[in-house]
Formats: sequence, structure tokens, C-alpha cells
Amino acid sequence: MPLVPMRAILQASYDAYKRKEPFAAGAYNVNNMEQIQGIMLAANKTRSPAIIQASRGALKYADMNYLKHLILAAVELNPGIPIAMHLDHGNSLDTVKKAIGLGFTSVMIDGSLMEDGKTASDYEYNVKVTKEVVGYAHGFGVTVEGELGTLGGIEDGVGSGKIHLTDPDQAVDFVKKTGVDALAVAIGTSHGAYKFKEEPKIAFDIIEKIRNNIPDVFLVSHGSSSVPPELVDTINKYGGNMKKTMGVPLESLKKAIKLGINKINVDTDGRLAVTGAIRKCFAENPDKFDPREYLGPARDALAKVIEERMNAFGTAGHVKDVKPVTLEEMKRVYRSRE
Ligand code: G3H
Ligand code: 13P
Ligand code: ZN
Repeated sequence: MPLVPMRAILQASYDAYKRKEPFAAGAYNVNNMEQIQGIMLAANKTRSPAIIQASRGALKYADMNYLKHLILAAVELNPGIPIAMHLDHGNSLDTVKKAIGLGFTSVMIDGSLMEDGKTASDYEYNVKVTKEVVGYAHGFGVTVEGELGTLGGIEDGVGSGKIHLTDPDQAVDFVKKTGVDALAVAIGTSHGAYKFKEEPKIAFDIIEKIRNNIPDVFLVSHGSSSVPPELVDTINKYGGNMKKTMGVPLESLKKAIKLGINKINVDTDGRLAVTGAIRKCFAENPDKFDPREYLGPARDALAKVIEERMNAFGTAGHVKDVKPVTLEEMKRVYRSRE
């Protein structure tokens, strides 16, 4: 099947929540071929739909077209797996236009921050830029994710660093004014490896209120890596120097899924798995110099952590529940709503 709009995958999650059999779709960040292959290995093994997402940094690193064609190769080689190609943390209509021009079937506009991706914006700005993006993207049948509230943490310069939890009443107004398909909510999670010093308090009450207030919008949790100590330990055992840290426990994510979270973003855990595997390979085999001999184990380590997430989020086995709707069909659906 061709790439699907992200909406098709999230609808399966939402329908399952309504049936009281909730699961969430993981969305995994990529920058290169091995990461895409790692996700597809895990998706095939667990029969999970896959949201493959690229940040602005990723598109810059991989010169845009490389990522597009690598993801299209994944589509070609895995015709039975629904795959959405998603722009993560788009910062402007211009970036969104570029992504849609490349063939992305889903885009995020993060209007909680200004175009620099660092400075917190005000509500009016967020509504304005998100509405513009929705108007443009829906004309192509492309799914749109917005963000309300800000997460903690800074990832390679992205993020204000301050947590500002989503206001459930404002979420109603935001969705009404913008028409987003999916909403990233700030519920106490945080981007990057250094999230927390102790177990975080996730604002489950806020998820519950938002889910009740806006039943028809897909909810997204960013900054949701669990930062498993064993991955950090492997890095440190083989010459790394990472400080002690804590991520979002899988049990908290499972509870969030039960309350109605549909999409969970994971980047850091994959980075840790890849780095640990490469460090181990270098430390144990100082004579090796063929990139395949360390990128191969890195790909396997990434596939393993993603397989674990697909099982923990309940995504496993849900390939069959995704209706492979086309962008053309979605275009008509959006037009009929206007
Ligand atoms: O939320 C941000 C993602 O982890 C992407 O990070 O901008 O370093 O690619 P990046
Ligand atoms: P982590 O840094 O927790 O993996 O979050 C990734 C993310 O939210 C990408 O948008
Ligand atoms: Zn994010």
C-alpha cells in the first residue's frame, strides 16, 4: 500500500480506545537509513503500523530528498505495513509546504513556539499559524498535528525548556479555531535524555479532562522516551559519560494510553540504543573499520527498543485495523467538512 495519512493510523487507535481496548501508535524519529530499517524490522515483527517522523534537523542533516526516498523504499519493501511520513515540530508554513511538496502525508506545526523553535509564543500566534497550516495541508489531504502548552527539556536547541501544562478549556477553543486532526498536549513529559532527576508526575487528570472536552481529536504525547538505565549504562560501560537521569516510565505511558493518548513520540531511546551498540562494538573490536560492522548492530539495537515500545504501547497486531485511506479521499473528507 502507498504511504497513508497519519490520520488513518490514529483513527485505528481512537476506535480501539472507544472499544475500551486502547493502544497508541509510536512515532519514531529518523535521520538515516539504519533507523528507518530498524523501525521496519520492529513493525514487521510485531505487525504494527509505523509513523516515521523527521524533524527539521533531520531534513537538514539528510538533505530532505534522501529521507523521502529512504522512507519510500520502506513502503515499497513492506507493502503490508501502513506507514505515515510525518514532519515533526514544523516551525512555519514554509517548512510545512516543503514537507508536503516532498510527499509527507502528515505534518506537525508547533505553534507553541515561535519560528526559532525556542521562544514560547502566545496563544493568538499559535492559533493563527496552526489555522494557516491546517488550511493549506488539508487541501492536500495531509493530516495536521498542532501543539498547545510547552514541554520541558531542550533537544538540540528545540524547545523553550519550560513546562507549561495544557489548559483543557483552552484546548477546546484551540481545536475549534484551528481544525487540527491531532493535538500534542503538555502533560509533564519532556524532550531529550535529561528529563527528570526523579520519577515524574504525569498530569493524568489533564489527559482525562482534555479527552472528555475534545472527544474527536487525536492526542499526542511528545518527549516520551523512557531513557532505560540499561541503555545509559551500556553507553557508560563502553567509554561514554552520561549523567544519571530518568525518563517517562512505561507504566505512566500505559496509563496515559488508557486515558486516551493516541500517539507517543520516541526519539531519545533510539539514539541511546544506537550509541550504546556502536560504542560496544568499537570497544570490543578496536580492529574493525567497516561501517557495516557497527551500523548493523546499531540497527538491531534500535529495532529491539522499538519492538519493546510497540509491545508496551499495544501497537503490536494492529496493522489489520488501519484502513488505508488515500490523500485524495482525505481531501474530499476535509472539503465536505468546510
Ligand atoms: O522533539 C524533537 C526530536 O527529538 C527531534 O530532535 O531536532 O534533534 O532532530 P532533533
Ligand atoms: P524524546 O526526546 O523523549 O524521545 O521525545 C521525542 C519527541 O517528542 C519528538 O518529537
Ligand atoms: Zn517532540
